[in-house]
Amino acid sequence: MPQAPRRPLLAGNWKMNPLSAAEAVELARGVIPAARQHASVLDVALFPPFPWLRPVWDALHDTDVELGAQDCFWERAGAFTGEVSAAMLAGWCGWVIVGHSERRALGETDADVARKAAAALEAGLSVIVCVGEHEAQFVAGQTAQVVGDQVSAALQPLPASSIDRLVMAYEPIWAIGTGRNADPSLAGGTMRLVRQRLEQAFGAPAASVRVLYGGSVNAANVASYVELAGCDGCLVGGASLRPEEFSKMISMVAAVASPAR
Ligand code: PGA
Repeated sequence: MPQAPRRPLLAGNWKMNPLSAAEAVELARGVIPAARQHASVLDVALFPPFPWLRPVWDALHDTDVELGAQDCFWERAGAFTGEVSAAMLAGWCGWVIVGHSERRALGETDADVARKAAAALEAGLSVIVCVGEHEAQFVAGQTAQVVGDQVSAALQPLPASSIDRLVMAYEPIWAIGTGRNADPSLAGGTMRLVRQRLEQAFGAPAASVRVLYGGSVNAANVASYVELAGCDGCLVGGASLRPEEFSKMISMVAAVASPAR
Protein backbone atom coordinates (compact mmCIF):
# COMPACT_ATOMS: atom_id res chain seq x y z
CA MET A 1 0.00 0.00 0.00
CA PRO A 2 1.17 3.58 -0.48
CA GLN A 3 3.35 5.10 2.16
CA ALA A 4 2.02 8.33 3.58
CA PRO A 5 1.28 10.85 2.20
CA ARG A 6 -0.03 9.06 -0.91
CA ARG A 7 -3.75 8.43 -0.54
CA PRO A 8 -5.11 5.64 -2.71
CA LEU A 9 -7.18 6.73 -5.70
CA LEU A 10 -9.99 4.73 -7.29
CA ALA A 11 -10.80 6.28 -10.65
CA GLY A 12 -13.79 5.28 -12.80
CA ASN A 13 -13.37 5.79 -16.56
CA TRP A 14 -16.83 5.51 -18.13
CA LYS A 15 -15.44 5.75 -21.68
CA MET A 16 -18.27 6.48 -24.20
CA ASN A 17 -21.02 5.50 -21.73
CA PRO A 18 -23.82 5.85 -20.73
CA LEU A 19 -26.13 7.09 -23.48
CA SER A 20 -28.22 9.55 -21.46
CA ALA A 21 -27.67 12.27 -18.90
CA ALA A 22 -30.22 10.65 -16.60
CA GLU A 23 -28.27 7.38 -16.57
CA ALA A 24 -25.03 9.27 -15.98
CA VAL A 25 -26.48 11.03 -12.96
CA GLU A 26 -27.79 7.74 -11.61
CA LEU A 27 -24.38 6.09 -11.99
CA ALA A 28 -22.70 8.98 -10.21
CA ARG A 29 -25.22 9.07 -7.38
CA GLY A 30 -24.72 5.35 -6.79
CA VAL A 31 -21.11 5.90 -5.78
CA ILE A 32 -21.62 8.82 -3.37
CA PRO A 33 -22.44 6.84 -0.18
CA ALA A 34 -19.37 4.56 -0.35
CA ALA A 35 -17.10 7.49 -1.17
CA ARG A 36 -18.51 9.41 1.79
CA GLN A 37 -18.07 6.46 4.12
CA HIS A 38 -14.39 6.06 3.23
CA ALA A 39 -13.46 9.66 2.44
CA SER A 40 -10.92 9.75 5.26
CA VAL A 41 -8.73 7.11 3.60
CA LEU A 42 -9.09 7.29 -0.18
CA ASP A 43 -9.92 9.50 -3.14
CA VAL A 44 -12.65 8.58 -5.64
CA ALA A 45 -13.00 10.23 -9.05
CA LEU A 46 -15.38 9.60 -11.96
CA PHE A 47 -14.68 10.38 -15.62
CA PRO A 48 -17.88 10.75 -17.68
CA PRO A 49 -17.99 11.74 -21.37
CA PHE A 50 -17.86 15.51 -22.04
CA PRO A 51 -21.63 16.13 -22.46
CA TRP A 52 -22.39 14.59 -19.06
CA LEU A 53 -19.83 16.63 -17.14
CA ARG A 54 -22.39 19.32 -16.36
CA PRO A 55 -25.21 17.07 -15.07
CA VAL A 56 -22.74 14.87 -13.19
CA TRP A 57 -21.10 17.98 -11.76
CA ASP A 58 -24.51 18.96 -10.38
CA ALA A 59 -24.95 15.49 -8.88
CA LEU A 60 -21.49 15.37 -7.30
CA HIS A 61 -21.22 18.95 -6.12
CA ASP A 62 -20.35 19.00 -2.40
CA THR A 63 -19.83 15.25 -2.24
CA ASP A 64 -16.68 13.17 -1.74
CA VAL A 65 -16.60 12.05 -5.39
CA GLU A 66 -14.36 14.10 -7.65
CA LEU A 67 -15.02 14.74 -11.32
CA GLY A 68 -12.77 14.46 -14.35
CA ALA A 69 -12.78 14.40 -18.15
CA GLN A 70 -11.36 11.66 -20.35
CA ASP A 71 -9.18 13.86 -22.55
CA CYS A 72 -8.22 17.48 -23.23
CA PHE A 73 -6.43 19.54 -25.86
CA TRP A 74 -3.17 21.37 -25.23
CA GLU A 75 -4.08 24.78 -26.67
CA ARG A 76 -6.13 27.09 -24.43
CA ALA A 77 -8.58 28.38 -27.07
CA GLY A 78 -8.83 29.04 -30.78
CA ALA A 79 -9.59 27.41 -34.13
CA PHE A 80 -9.46 23.75 -33.06
CA THR A 81 -12.81 22.28 -34.09
CA GLY A 82 -13.99 19.48 -31.86
CA GLU A 83 -11.34 19.97 -29.19
CA VAL A 84 -11.88 20.88 -25.53
CA SER A 85 -9.09 22.68 -23.69
CA ALA A 86 -7.77 21.92 -20.23
CA ALA A 87 -8.51 25.54 -19.36
CA MET A 88 -12.20 25.02 -20.24
CA LEU A 89 -12.39 21.85 -18.17
CA ALA A 90 -10.89 23.57 -15.17
CA GLY A 91 -14.24 25.29 -14.61
CA TRP A 92 -15.95 21.93 -14.08
CA CYS A 93 -13.42 19.28 -13.31
CA GLY A 94 -10.58 18.69 -10.93
CA TRP A 95 -9.17 15.92 -13.10
CA VAL A 96 -8.40 14.79 -16.64
CA ILE A 97 -7.09 11.53 -18.15
CA VAL A 98 -4.54 11.84 -20.96
CA GLY A 99 -2.86 9.23 -23.13
CA HIS A 100 -5.42 6.47 -22.64
CA SER A 101 -4.54 3.62 -24.98
CA GLU A 102 -7.91 3.97 -26.71
CA ARG A 103 -6.85 7.50 -27.70
CA ARG A 104 -3.31 6.47 -28.57
CA ALA A 105 -4.89 3.82 -30.86
CA LEU A 106 -6.57 6.68 -32.76
CA GLY A 107 -3.22 8.30 -33.47
CA GLU A 108 -2.24 10.18 -30.32
CA THR A 109 1.56 10.25 -29.97
CA ASP A 110 3.85 10.42 -26.93
CA ALA A 111 4.49 14.08 -27.83
CA ASP A 112 0.73 14.81 -27.88
CA VAL A 113 0.31 13.12 -24.50
CA ALA A 114 3.15 15.17 -23.03
CA ARG A 115 1.65 18.43 -24.32
CA LYS A 116 -1.78 17.50 -22.95
CA ALA A 117 -0.36 16.59 -19.55
CA ALA A 118 1.57 19.87 -19.37
CA ALA A 119 -1.52 21.88 -20.38
CA ALA A 120 -3.63 20.10 -17.77
CA LEU A 121 -1.19 20.86 -14.97
CA GLU A 122 -0.84 24.43 -16.20
CA ALA A 123 -4.64 24.81 -16.04
CA GLY A 124 -4.63 23.63 -12.43
CA LEU A 125 -6.08 20.17 -13.09
CA SER A 126 -4.89 16.90 -11.62
CA VAL A 127 -3.93 14.58 -14.47
CA ILE A 128 -3.82 10.81 -14.94
CA VAL A 129 -1.26 9.92 -17.62
CA CYS A 130 -1.78 6.41 -19.02
CA VAL A 131 0.98 4.18 -20.30
CA GLY A 132 1.07 0.52 -21.31
CA GLU A 133 2.33 -2.00 -23.82
CA HIS A 134 0.57 -3.94 -26.59
CA GLU A 135 0.18 -7.68 -26.29
CA ALA A 136 2.88 -8.40 -28.89
CA GLN A 137 5.31 -6.19 -26.96
CA PHE A 138 4.39 -7.97 -23.71
CA VAL A 139 4.95 -11.38 -25.28
CA ALA A 140 8.27 -10.21 -26.74
CA GLY A 141 9.47 -9.09 -23.29
CA GLN A 142 9.52 -5.40 -24.30
CA THR A 143 7.25 -4.07 -21.54
CA ALA A 144 9.96 -2.26 -19.58
CA GLN A 145 11.38 -0.61 -22.69
CA VAL A 146 8.00 0.49 -24.07
CA VAL A 147 6.57 1.72 -20.78
CA GLY A 148 9.83 3.36 -19.73
CA ASP A 149 9.97 5.31 -23.00
CA GLN A 150 6.32 6.38 -22.71
CA VAL A 151 6.83 7.58 -19.14
CA SER A 152 9.99 9.50 -19.96
CA ALA A 153 8.33 11.18 -22.95
CA ALA A 154 5.28 12.18 -20.93
CA LEU A 155 7.29 13.58 -18.01
CA GLN A 156 9.76 15.51 -20.12
CA PRO A 157 7.88 18.87 -20.25
CA LEU A 158 6.29 18.71 -16.80
CA PRO A 159 7.37 21.19 -14.14
CA ALA A 160 8.44 19.59 -10.84
CA SER A 161 6.47 22.31 -9.04
CA SER A 162 3.10 20.81 -10.04
CA ILE A 163 3.74 17.09 -10.01
CA ASP A 164 1.84 16.69 -6.77
CA ARG A 165 -1.17 16.79 -9.16
CA LEU A 166 0.29 14.08 -11.41
CA VAL A 167 -0.88 10.44 -11.36
CA MET A 168 0.57 7.72 -13.61
CA ALA A 169 -1.58 4.74 -14.64
CA TYR A 170 0.06 1.57 -15.91
CA GLU A 171 -2.51 -0.09 -18.17
CA PRO A 172 -1.30 -3.03 -20.25
CA ILE A 173 -3.34 -2.67 -23.44
CA TRP A 174 -4.04 -6.40 -23.67
CA ALA A 175 -5.67 -6.26 -20.22
CA ILE A 176 -8.08 -3.39 -20.99
CA GLY A 177 -11.67 -4.48 -21.46
CA THR A 178 -10.63 -8.10 -22.01
CA GLY A 179 -11.25 -9.63 -18.59
CA ARG A 180 -7.56 -10.69 -18.63
CA ASN A 181 -6.14 -8.60 -15.80
CA ALA A 182 -2.35 -8.58 -15.50
CA ASP A 183 -0.67 -10.79 -12.94
CA PRO A 184 -0.32 -8.48 -9.91
CA SER A 185 3.34 -9.25 -9.29
CA LEU A 186 4.22 -8.58 -12.94
CA ALA A 187 2.19 -5.36 -12.89
CA GLY A 188 3.91 -4.45 -9.63
CA GLY A 189 7.30 -4.76 -11.30
CA THR A 190 6.26 -2.39 -14.08
CA MET A 191 4.81 0.06 -11.56
CA ARG A 192 8.18 0.05 -9.76
CA LEU A 193 9.81 0.92 -13.08
CA VAL A 194 7.37 3.83 -13.50
CA ARG A 195 8.33 5.08 -10.04
CA GLN A 196 12.05 4.81 -10.85
CA ARG A 197 11.50 6.99 -13.92
CA LEU A 198 9.58 9.49 -11.79
CA GLU A 199 12.44 9.60 -9.30
CA GLN A 200 15.01 10.06 -12.06
CA ALA A 201 12.98 12.92 -13.53
CA PHE A 202 11.95 14.76 -10.37
CA GLY A 203 14.00 13.48 -7.41
CA ALA A 204 12.37 13.61 -3.98
CA PRO A 205 9.12 15.36 -5.09
CA ALA A 206 8.33 12.19 -7.11
CA ALA A 207 7.24 10.64 -3.82
CA SER A 208 3.94 12.55 -4.09
CA VAL A 209 3.04 11.04 -7.49
CA ARG A 210 0.57 8.16 -7.34
CA VAL A 211 1.03 5.14 -9.60
CA LEU A 212 -2.13 3.17 -10.47
CA TYR A 213 -2.83 -0.12 -12.20
CA GLY A 214 -5.61 -0.40 -14.79
CA GLY A 215 -6.93 -3.20 -17.00
CA SER A 216 -9.90 -5.45 -16.15
CA VAL A 217 -9.92 -4.42 -12.49
CA ASN A 218 -13.03 -5.53 -10.64
CA ALA A 219 -14.23 -6.38 -7.14
CA ALA A 220 -12.67 -9.83 -7.37
CA ASN A 221 -9.13 -8.61 -8.06
CA VAL A 222 -8.80 -4.98 -6.90
CA ALA A 223 -7.34 -5.97 -3.51
CA SER A 224 -4.53 -7.94 -5.17
CA TYR A 225 -3.29 -4.70 -6.76
CA VAL A 226 -3.75 -2.20 -3.96
CA GLU A 227 -2.02 -4.57 -1.55
CA LEU A 228 1.17 -4.17 -3.60
CA ALA A 229 3.67 -1.78 -2.02
CA GLY A 230 4.05 0.20 -5.25
CA CYS A 231 0.37 0.49 -6.20
CA ASP A 232 -1.53 3.60 -5.14
CA GLY A 233 -4.92 2.65 -6.56
CA CYS A 234 -6.64 1.60 -9.76
CA LEU A 235 -8.11 3.03 -12.97
CA VAL A 236 -11.31 1.11 -13.60
CA GLY A 237 -13.30 0.95 -16.83
CA GLY A 238 -16.13 -1.57 -17.14
CA ALA A 239 -16.66 -2.15 -13.42
CA SER A 240 -17.11 1.61 -12.85
CA LEU A 241 -20.35 1.37 -14.86
CA ARG A 242 -21.75 -0.90 -12.13
CA PRO A 243 -22.18 1.38 -9.11
CA GLU A 244 -22.78 -1.49 -6.68
CA GLU A 245 -19.57 -3.21 -7.70
CA PHE A 246 -17.62 0.06 -7.81
CA SER A 247 -18.89 0.92 -4.30
CA LYS A 248 -17.75 -2.49 -3.10
CA MET A 249 -14.34 -1.79 -4.63
CA ILE A 250 -14.18 1.53 -2.78
CA SER A 251 -14.76 -0.36 0.49
CA MET A 252 -12.13 -2.96 -0.41
CA VAL A 253 -9.48 -0.36 -1.22
CA ALA A 254 -10.38 1.47 1.98
CA ALA A 255 -9.98 -1.75 3.97
CA VAL A 256 -6.44 -2.20 2.61
CA ALA A 257 -5.62 1.47 3.18
CA SER A 258 -7.11 1.76 6.63
CA PRO A 259 -4.55 1.87 9.44
CA ALA A 260 -7.08 -0.01 11.63
CA ARG A 261 -6.80 -3.06 9.39
P1 PGA B 1 -11.34 -1.90 -18.05
O1 PGA B 1 -10.79 -0.48 -18.59
O2 PGA B 1 -11.36 -1.81 -16.54
O3 PGA B 1 -12.71 -2.03 -18.63
O4 PGA B 1 -10.38 -2.93 -18.53
C1 PGA B 1 -9.73 0.17 -17.96
C2 PGA B 1 -9.43 1.47 -18.66
O5 PGA B 1 -9.63 1.54 -19.88
O6 PGA B 1 -9.01 2.45 -18.05
